[in-house]
Amino acid sequence: MPGLQDVLDEIVAEMATRQGRGEVATYIPQLGKIDPAKFGIAVALNDGEVMTSGDAEEPFSIQSISKVFTLALALGRVGDVLWQRVGREPSGTPFNSIVQLEIEHGIPRNPFINAGAIVVSDILLAGHQPREAIGEILSFVRSVADDDSIVIDRDVAASERATGYRNVALASYLKGFGNLNHEPDLTLGVYFHHCAIAMSCRQLASAGRFLANSGRSESSGHTVVSSERARRINALMLTCGHYDGSGEFAFRVGIPGKSGVGGGIMAVVPGVASIAVWSPGLNKNGNSMLGSLALEQLTRRMNWSIFSS
Ligand code: DON
Repeated sequence: MPGLQDVLDEIVAEMATRQGRGEVATYIPQLGKIDPAKFGIAVALNDGEVMTSGDAEEPFSIQSISKVFTLALALGRVGDVLWQRVGREPSGTPFNSIVQLEIEHGIPRNPFINAGAIVVSDILLAGHQPREAIGEILSFVRSVADDDSIVIDRDVAASERATGYRNVALASYLKGFGNLNHEPDLTLGVYFHHCAIAMSCRQLASAGRFLANSGRSESSGHTVVSSERARRINALMLTCGHYDGSGEFAFRVGIPGKSGVGGGIMAVVPGVASIAVWSPGLNKNGNSMLGSLALEQLTRRMNWSIFSS
């Protein structure tokens, strides 16, 4: 097997030469300010070692990657009844699409599209003030990453709240179908803030390790989720983690992964490692263009695709 550190360094060097880097998201104005030349990667191996290259220590907005953590937390809170309110099928539509919601009576296709994640936020809000629910999500992320320095970027949250009309529409529509228990504004407060969590590749790779490790946290030795639940979250990341680009990601990269419009991707090699990559430019599906390419190169060179024998 090639040396992992060499492979990461070579990927970073190659990505620095690339001209086409995709487009930085501008619909959240604060994200439009990020330098598209940034590139970082980190691999957290199940034995506890973390290897990094490039801008791997710089925090970025994890955006939709946070939906993996809120799903894990909400399943822990309410268990499988969550699936009465959210589906488990790929949507084949953009992350912010509203079209399926009417036909499917307000049940979002999966927990990773915006509509599904808003329902998950609503579940986490039950019995709490929004501020408490946000605090609980942040504590969970800090605990799985074993890093208490992780914070929410308030400017990103405010920027999204000021411009998030599509999410306002989705939340109102969900409420109209009876699939939101709180006022849309309160649920969206939770949603916008968890999307605005800022993490470095090192922190994100460490946070994903429980998914590569049968649900167990390497640092504490505690069970974060059952091994069955970790397996199922990984399955959802593979089938739904890149929206209408999920098939292409599985075809090219071959491991479960979750993207965010901040340009991050968290990916899992079950039994081996958790990976985080960051390159702010996005492809047409809203997924990191060079991040996907880097993961394709990494899984090919390390023979990490779950489909290879
Ligand atoms: O709600 C939104 O539009 C953003 N907070 C998150 C979208 C996102 O990250 C989609 N991912 N590729």
